[in-house]
Amino acid sequence: MIRFVRKIVLILAFAFLPLQAELHPSRIVPQVRVVNNDVVVSWTTANPTARGIVRFAPDDGRNRQPFPEYYSSAEDRSVGKSHSVTLKSLRTDIVYNYRVSCIDTVQWTELRSLNYTFRLLKQGDKHELGLILSEGPIVANATPNSIVIAWKTNLQSMGEILYWSGSKREKFSANSSGSVFEVLLEKLTADKVYSYKVVAFHRNDTVSSPVFTFRTAPVKNAKFSFMVSGDSRSGREADVDFRLNGVNYVIMNRLAQQALNHTARFFLTTGDQSDGNTPERDDMALQTETWRRAVAHANAFVPFYPSVGNHDATAPHIRFGKRGRHDPPPPNSAEDLWAENYILPTNGPEPEPGHPPFRETVYSFDYGNVHFIALNAHYFNVVKDDSIKFPYEGSFHRITGRQLEWLKADLKKAGQRLTFVYSHLPFFPAGGHIGSSFDRYPDERDALWRLFEQHNVGIVFAGHEHIYARVKVDKGVNPNFRKGIFQVIAGGAGAPTYDQDFKIPYLKNVVKFARSYNYALVTVDGNRFKMEAFDDYGKKIDEFRQ
Ligand SMILES: [Fe+2]
Repeated sequence: MIRFVRKIVLILAFAFLPLQAELHPSRIVPQVRVVNNDVVVSWTTANPTARGIVRFAPDDGRNRQPFPEYYSSAEDRSVGKSHSVTLKSLRTDIVYNYRVSCIDTVQWTELRSLNYTFRLLKQGDKHELGLILSEGPIVANATPNSIVIAWKTNLQSMGEILYWSGSKREKFSANSSGSVFEVLLEKLTADKVYSYKVVAFHRNDTVSSPVFTFRTAPVKNAKFSFMVSGDSRSGREADVDFRLNGVNYVIMNRLAQQALNHTARFFLTTGDQSDGNTPERDDMALQTETWRRAVAHANAFVPFYPSVGNHDATAPHIRFGKRGRHDPPPPNSAEDLWAENYILPTNGPEPEPGHPPFRETVYSFDYGNVHFIALNAHYFNVVKDDSIKFPYEGSFHRITGRQLEWLKADLKKAGQRLTFVYSHLPFFPAGGHIGSSFDRYPDERDALWRLFEQHNVGIVFAGHEHIYARVKVDKGVNPNFRKGIFQVIAGGAGAPTYDQDFKIPYLKNVVKFARSYNYALVTVDGNRFKMEAFDDYGKKIDEFRQ
């Protein structure tokens, strides 16, 4: 066995920012501390709450996030805005899952926290909180010879990644300490499955993740599958987990599992990961963390490539008048926060001076011989209030300026290679967002579509409409179109579903429509591909080959 230390890139980012005073009425973020060798779980709520319950149990070691079994519970029977519950007779040196719920006595709704973990450590006669991997590990940005592995710890720690393929075991050691790790592993072999685990160290305490696998991208023509779905924000089901911290946690979790079931190599999202729509940065950070935790069990194996939706673009925002909102300028723009919360390719365009970054909201990447492009249809998002004069126009429902220049250059570079484009807005909406998609600027929309026609764009994916719809965009839509590229709306990751619109002029071009949670699975083989669509339980609803 060869073991050596390879120092590559380590980015130490910021620790979790504490939640500020203005807590969203439906959020709970519990804290744990050790008092008299027991663990005290405490939390505050915006409204007075009752029947505070902490459910907890040892983790069974099988990575059962995000829905572990809890066989124990403890209660705080008081009514108020702050609660604490003491968990007694805990075992040391094992990871416990725990979760808090309570009843809001103003809204009369149940509130629940995410599942969190703690570990109690024996130090002499005393107990203290031990090190845990508080998030991750996850993988991101797979290329033929590199991948990013990221994780977080509850305490300042050192970390290392052990990774191997066959018997050749290698080790990357992070030589600085922190609590947020984003490590680029390089010099990997293309199209190869590696096993890996993360080990974290804090003083004489050590914790290790289970062993996961990742696969590097192929270099050229290869057969592989990828998944697409978007709009995972809050659903309308009665159970709170369908709208946990602004995310349809149950459905997004189920779709992420489907990615593993289909052995998809990665997952593209078509935006609106969560409800957004908040002036609070910390609230949006929690919403995004909730989405990351909903997919973490799959993200440990395969990368996710989200794109920005209008809800993502409204967090944080500045409010003006009754209806007006706009994206704050950098460094507090929605785009800045997005880039902090996700790990995505950074090859987007440079913004105009003083404008929000495009970094990680507009990007492209290659996988085998196939090219992928993510667009931001909500850059510098402005929702107008007629009584307010905004400092800028924004670029909502359109691709303009430097993003448009970048797109043209990126497509030119891709030449005639098979390309898939994904963003939040449909170019040709089919139900729910007629007039509030790229169709708001029909001439610009058609010019973009003709640009796609000049290249080898296989499918243009969208969300925003919470439906499945496949539209054949050909001469029947616009006599100037030549190729008949399909637009697939796969906005079925958890937001309330919409009806079909039967009044659209291109109704006969809507070749398939379904009102259900859904995802698309594309299997590429060289320059050809098959696309299948399924409901959230994996029942097929559409299929075509090209
Ligand atoms: Fe949307």
